[in-house]
Amino acid sequence: MKLFIDSGNIADIQKLADIGIIDGVTTNPSLLVKEPGDYRENLKKICQIVKGPVSGEVTATDFAGMMQQGHDIAKIDPYMVVKVPLTRDGIKACKALSGEGIRVNVTLCFSAAQALLAAKAGATFISPFVGRLDDIGHDGMELIADILEMLGHYSYKAEVLVASVRSPVHVIKGARMGAHVATCPFSVLQQLAKHPLTDIGLKKFLDDWNKSGAKI
Ligand code: E4P
Repeated sequence: MKLFIDSGNIADIQKLADIGIIDGVTTNPSLLVKEPGDYRENLKKICQIVKGPVSGEVTATDFAGMMQQGHDIAKIDPYMVVKVPLTRDGIKACKALSGEGIRVNVTLCFSAAQALLAAKAGATFISPFVGRLDDIGHDGMELIADILEMLGHYSYKAEVLVASVRSPVHVIKGARMGAHVATCPFSVLQQLAKHPLTDIGLKKFLDDWNKSGAKI
């Protein structure tokens, strides 16, 4: 499973890239406006750090506007992926941009029907938002299972990207189902490495070693 970081924060992205577990980045307008500096320059820096797919989202809601912004975003860096919302105009823009060889991440997906249309439109990534479905009393991971089962019958190139991740449980459930990617906030990626028994076990090993006076 590929792990993306869902963030526009360069320091956080750098920290995780240094560990070597980050395959890409997703951003959205809400994440980018939190960061100081010019968002295009920030996206360029992120591409240079991660050297993998970096999604930048259009803010236009009409086809012509999405196409114009999509071209601008794609020009920032060859690693850029254009993110469009799962609306009628978004699907049309996905089809057109994908036809030009620009990779598209179709975001704000909340149903299998929407995912099917995104796949047919040539999306590189489809982003179902599991956390936001859980928030309204649905089971977000059930949607991931439905989409994977449905697309598994065909040969669309789309990868299923588990988005709106709230905890490691979403990541592990997604991995068990065979989801291609999970995009996670920095805090969730930190939690993936943590287990209290690892910390306790390590402390005991080091205490025993240091008490013994042994030297390597
Ligand atoms: C994905 O690309 C989105 O940026 C993100 O996962 C949204 O998550 P949220 O529901 O926590 O805002």
